[in-house]
Amino acid sequence: MIEILLPYLLLVLFLILPILFIFTRPKKKQTPLSSSTNKNNITIPKSYPIIGSYLSIRKNMRTRRIQWLSDVTQIAPAATFRLNRPLGSRQIITGNPSTVQHILKTHFTNYQKGTTFTKTLSDFLGNGIFNTDGATWKFQRQVASHEFNTKSLRNFVEHVVDTELTNRLIPILTSSSQNKTTLDFQDILQRFTFDNICKIAFGFDPEYLTPSTNRTQFAQAFEDATEISSKRFRAPLPIIWKLKKHFNIGSEKRLKEAVKEIRDFAKKIIQEKKRELNKKSLETEDMLSRFLSSGHAEEDFVTDIIISFILAGKDTTSAALTWLFWLLWKNPRVEEEILKEIKLKSESLVYDEVKEMVYTHAALSESMRLYPPVPMDSKEAVNDDVLPDGTVVKKGTMVTFHVYAMGRMESLWGDDWAEFRPERWLEKDVNGKWVFVGRDSFSYPVFQAGPRICLGKEMAFMQMKRMVAGIVGKFKVVPEPHLDEHPNFISFLSSQMEGGFPVTIQKRIP
Ligand code: HEM
Repeated sequence: MIEILLPYLLLVLFLILPILFIFTRPKKKQTPLSSSTNKNNITIPKSYPIIGSYLSIRKNMRTRRIQWLSDVTQIAPAATFRLNRPLGSRQIITGNPSTVQHILKTHFTNYQKGTTFTKTLSDFLGNGIFNTDGATWKFQRQVASHEFNTKSLRNFVEHVVDTELTNRLIPILTSSSQNKTTLDFQDILQRFTFDNICKIAFGFDPEYLTPSTNRTQFAQAFEDATEISSKRFRAPLPIIWKLKKHFNIGSEKRLKEAVKEIRDFAKKIIQEKKRELNKKSLETEDMLSRFLSSGHAEEDFVTDIIISFILAGKDTTSAALTWLFWLLWKNPRVEEEILKEIKLKSESLVYDEVKEMVYTHAALSESMRLYPPVPMDSKEAVNDDVLPDGTVVKKGTMVTFHVYAMGRMESLWGDDWAEFRPERWLEKDVNGKWVFVGRDSFSYPVFQAGPRICLGKEMAFMQMKRMVAGIVGKFKVVPEPHLDEHPNFISFLSSQMEGGFPVTIQKRIP
């Protein structure tokens, strides 16, 4: 197919794009996000024949994509607008809870990952849970859901997370506080969660969190594949990455190499596990063992599943924690409340104690409201449809819900939406104890909602709460002075603090 279309598409590219590049080059390199944008200057992007809203997209998408689309969503009627991309490709962007409920639950079968999404990510994710619909998705979800029972969660918190904290993170933070070194805390948290998720998915410890900043080949390959795959979505025209792939050049060449490294490595582990399985029944409780024991031993299929899980758990919890620690520095009152909660628990917390950390749970929910680890998410319409606000959706249209915008809507959170206030998630019971009060998942789709809601939600909260207790109880994390300004919120499938999160560590006096 691509061979037939290639000459025509190249013609369009060579005629139109040079003109657009000359006239629409962005002037500023990076515009910091601010929590309050002047809404009077925001308009729905103008659309023209053939190029659609390319001019606005080019001006805003590279440097301030999330904030720009959030601003437009907020001023759009019913918080929903149509973004016309070049050559007739359309996307609907919404921040409306009724629409989110419509696409994620009530009309679930009409809104799938779809071919645009799955083709863009298939080189990296294959047919893994993140990248499939229908029966393949259902089967993976069903087998994987066993990994999230109470017994597995308890083992995860009390052994996997605890060991990484005690043997790796705390020694690194102690040494940093003694030597007064600067650490990139985002990188440290990413390494921690990468080790954790590999243990859960594979039963394998990549030992990524080490005092040196070396990146193991597997971890580096995983990071490169995530970044390059996510950048495919940003290309003004998909043909650009398809051509690079076709000629095996630039980032697409690296993607091919990285994916090969990841798959070769995963297959080596799968083969080892299979050999063990032939000798005796597996006692480990990792996901790989579970899939192999359920009779699905086909290597490519199991590799796809493992890659999706590592992606799911790798950068989401670290992103949430990065922004939480930045917010705690800006809001010492909240840090004090968390410290009070930690002091009521034992030194090496057991599962039930972690579960009971309601104030910390609220602080994390609040931090993810303002800085969601997955700031935007999309579904593709299988058939024509009409959204609850009357917006017409043509078959094949992408409908994107803007999670970041929804966390900042006055209509959903009140006029103090810009405040980091965990108490908005809490109530006092008759004994004066805090009780967590959740929000419906359509107004707060941070973990998505409906049948495909995040499988790892509870595991993620347990991991993050245990980590917060282990870190905040012993250390104060102090961002470098330039982070007093608002750091940039960017996203490659999941969000990040642009340029890292440089901090110094102060040991708390007991
Ligand atoms: C703060 C942490 C996390 C957040 C905010 C988060 C958020 C999300 C979101 C938004 C999705 C939907 C993605 C999509 O289909 O487009 C998702 C799906 C998923 N998440 Fe998470 N996640 C987190 C942590 C985790 C962890 C730690 C795991 C695993 C250990 C995990 C496992 C999954 C899986 C398997 C799915 C796919 C579910 C399906 O398609 O049926 N997540 N998550």
